[in-house]
Amino acid sequence: MILTGTTGLAGVIGWPVAHSLSPRLHNFWLEALGIDGAYIPLAVKPENLSLALWALPALGFKGANITVPHKEQALALVEKSDSFAKQIGAVNTIRVDEKGRLIGSNTDAYGFIKNLKSEARHWRPSRPVLVLGAGGAARAVCVALLSVGVREIRICNRTHSRAEGMAEEIGGPLVALHWGDREDAAEGVGLLVNTTKLGMTGAPKLRMPLTKLPPSAIVNDIVYTPLMTPLLASAGERGNRIIDGLGMLLHQAQPSFTAWYGKKPKVTQALRNHVLGG
Ligand code: ATR
Repeated sequence: MILTGTTGLAGVIGWPVAHSLSPRLHNFWLEALGIDGAYIPLAVKPENLSLALWALPALGFKGANITVPHKEQALALVEKSDSFAKQIGAVNTIRVDEKGRLIGSNTDAYGFIKNLKSEARHWRPSRPVLVLGAGGAARAVCVALLSVGVREIRICNRTHSRAEGMAEEIGGPLVALHWGDREDAAEGVGLLVNTTKLGMTGAPKLRMPLTKLPPSAIVNDIVYTPLMTPLLASAGERGNRIIDGLGMLLHQAQPSFTAWYGKKPKVTQALRNHVLGG
């Protein structure tokens, strides 16, 4: 790749950022589509976030992804933001517009739903959904589910007050349940989503008894290291349809790329393999 003064720049701003898979993903698309562009990891400390964001137009960047721990702070720093970003309370994509303004959006909700629909075409929003966790990822998942008309979302979180706060803030058919009641809460659901970090490499295992989960329910873990989490393995063993966490990451990247480079890239098996290639 030869970088010139006209190369279209974008990147991911996080702290730390070295673990991010986004550079592999976006640079794969840039190359596949023959675009003169480069996507760069940008390690920015929290106290430098506003400086870094305001520098994007000055440096000629088309925009950037925003990741942990900056997503909430970024919402307050952009000039405009879309309804998903406002509802979720976080920005994961910034586009620099023609006037040099920072336009924020959140593509996590889109990524979650797009992945769910492409992996489980038969899924319908008519049955209740059980969401484990009440952090930033849970907010995006709940907002996504509401946007497609889910009528009941049960939230189980270790810290009950956090589940209650999220249910109150997002509104709609969200019900906060106790972490200890998660086994019973799986009764009658059409979808179970883990948004906690439990099951991730190095984190404790998620203890989620699946005895009450209907055999027809889909189980989606947003953890993708490992791809086959203990939750997905036990759900798969009892015959539930399982969806791993990588798809949401790939699909959330697509609208960001389109916002910067004006072309719609595809989420393919080749992309998955490349991103997993390490
Ligand atoms: P993110 O923004 O990525 O969702 P987060 O805001 O730190 O990350 O949220 C992590 C989620 O994992 C929370 O729901 C957290 O529960 P608490 O609100 O009680 O902290 C959940 N979590 C983390 N460790 C956990 C554990 N050992 N047992 C149960 N839940 C856990």
